[in-house]
Order: sequence, then C-alpha cells, then structure tokens
Amino acid sequence: MRSLKLAVTTSRSQTSNLVCQARQIAWELKVPYIGRDGRSLEAIATAHKVEGIIVVSPQRVSCVTRAGEFFYHPSLARMRIKEINNGKTDQMIEAMSISPGNTVLDCTMGLGTDAVVASYVTGAGGRLVGLESSAVIAFLVGRGLATYPEPDRDIAAALRRVQVLQADHREYLRMLAPGSFDIVYFDPMFRLPRRKSPAINVMRTLADPDSLERETIHLALKVAVKRVVVKEGRDSSELRRLGFKNIYGGRYAPVVYGVMDGQGA
Ligand SMILES: C[S@@+](CC[C@H](N)C(=O)[O-])C[C@H]1O[C@@H](n2cnc3c(N)ncnc32)[C@H](O)[C@@H]1O
Repeated sequence: MRSLKLAVTTSRSQTSNLVCQARQIAWELKVPYIGRDGRSLEAIATAHKVEGIIVVSPQRVSCVTRAGEFFYHPSLARMRIKEINNGKTDQMIEAMSISPGNTVLDCTMGLGTDAVVASYVTGAGGRLVGLESSAVIAFLVGRGLATYPEPDRDIAAALRRVQVLQADHREYLRMLAPGSFDIVYFDPMFRLPRRKSPAINVMRTLADPDSLERETIHLALKVAVKRVVVKEGRDSSELRRLGFKNIYGGRYAPVVYGVMDGQGA
C-alpha cells in the first residue's frame, strides 16, 4: 500500500502538554513533528509538502487529510450492541456463530466497529485481536479503544479488550500456529463504494485498498477452529471468486457474509 506523507502538530491552542504528546506521537509513528505557530493546517501541508496531518488537541487526536478528519468514535458499535441487547439479530455475529469465551482474529480492523461488537459478545472470557496494516489507522484506533471515555461499563470493557496490532494479515496469518483462533474475520476496503459517507472517504485515504487473495483465505482456514467469515457487498462477485458458497445476510441488507468452516467445526 502507498502511505500518505504525514506530520504531527497540535491544535492552534497549543500547551506544553499537547506539544509533548505530539512529539511523542511523531516519534512513535516515525514522522516529523511540526510546530503549529498559529498557522492553518493547509499552510502547514503546503509549506512541508505533507498529505495528512495528525492533530493533537485537548479533545482528541485525529488525522486531517484533503478528504476530511479521521478519529476514533464508537457510536456505530454502541448502536449495534444496543440492538443486540434488545434481542435483534446482528448478521455478523450470526455469521461468525460467536459464543462467549471465543477467540476472534479481526484481520481488517479499520475503525474497530466490528471488533468491538464481537468483543462485547465474546465477553470477558474471550479474546479479540485486531490487525490493521495502516500505521496511522492502527495508532488512532488503538489509542481510541484504549482511552475513549465510554460511559457504559460493559461497552467500555469491550473496547479495552480489543488488542490492536499493526500488521499485514498475510504475514501475521502465516506465522500463526494451526487452530490459534476460533474465528477469523475479514472486511476488506475493496468493495466499499466511493463517496458513501465522509467518514469512509477519509478512511479511504489512509487505508490499505487491497482485495483479498485466495491464498489468504487458505491461511485463515488453517488458523480458524470454527469459522472464516468475509463481509462483502451483496452485488459483489468477490465471495464467489474467493470460493465461498455459504452466504449469510438479511434479504435486503446491502452487505452479506461469506462463511467457511474452520478445521475444528
Ligand atoms: C473496510 S475497513 C474495516 C472496517 C472494520 N470492519 C470496522 O468495523 O470498522 C478495512 C480495513 O482493513 C485494512 N486492511 C486492508 N488490507 C489489510 C491487510 N492486508 N492487513 C491488515 N489490514 C488491512 C484497511 O487499512 C482498512 O482499515
């Protein structure tokens, strides 16, 4: 994947604490720290020829690109968890056939919405590992999951349980022992239509756009005890290309889930 040229700065109201945090993040992500000095983000981007700026403000840490601002928020996960608690079916959870205590490897973590919903359902006895190849997404979402001030105790616990690793799932799956996780899950960028929502458009500028390879599904099948699940657009031919025959999803839902049994199913 092509990485954007990034830098880190603070909000215009710059305190020594924010500067210290910004410098630390710049060091962690191995990108330059640039003092804000009252300038607009556009002025900094032009002067330093960067395409994305990580901004440390008193409210949050976000990444601003031409497409908009990317930052962690659990609102969609919260909505889905509420519906699960109201007895509604969550198609992803159905497709995964998750039980409390299961271990789940989310190979395409993104904003972590699916990971948090799965983490909530697996509960304190389960384990949720989220892989994300984009360094900036892994950093911002990892930090958000660890620190977001979620008022609901159980949802906050689900956020904190997600263990984020910056890794390419192809490399990570290759080094795992057979049967390392109950469920292996993929939700690749490939299918997402353009200009669906501002949040997706910003994420697109930071995310890894690759489609899945058949070899990756074979690797996942060795790692999964129960199931390998892939989310795709209803009209996409991707699931067929990847060899999925068993498809879950609501009759009118825009997305469906391809399911293959793991080695212990
Ligand atoms: C559509 S998003 C996932 C959204 C996520 N399911 C959620 O609920 O927020 C896909 C994510 O997978 C990441 N990705 C794509 N290829 C990857 C790879 N080979 N390894 C790890 N992450 C990858 C992208 O950078 C992007 O952030």
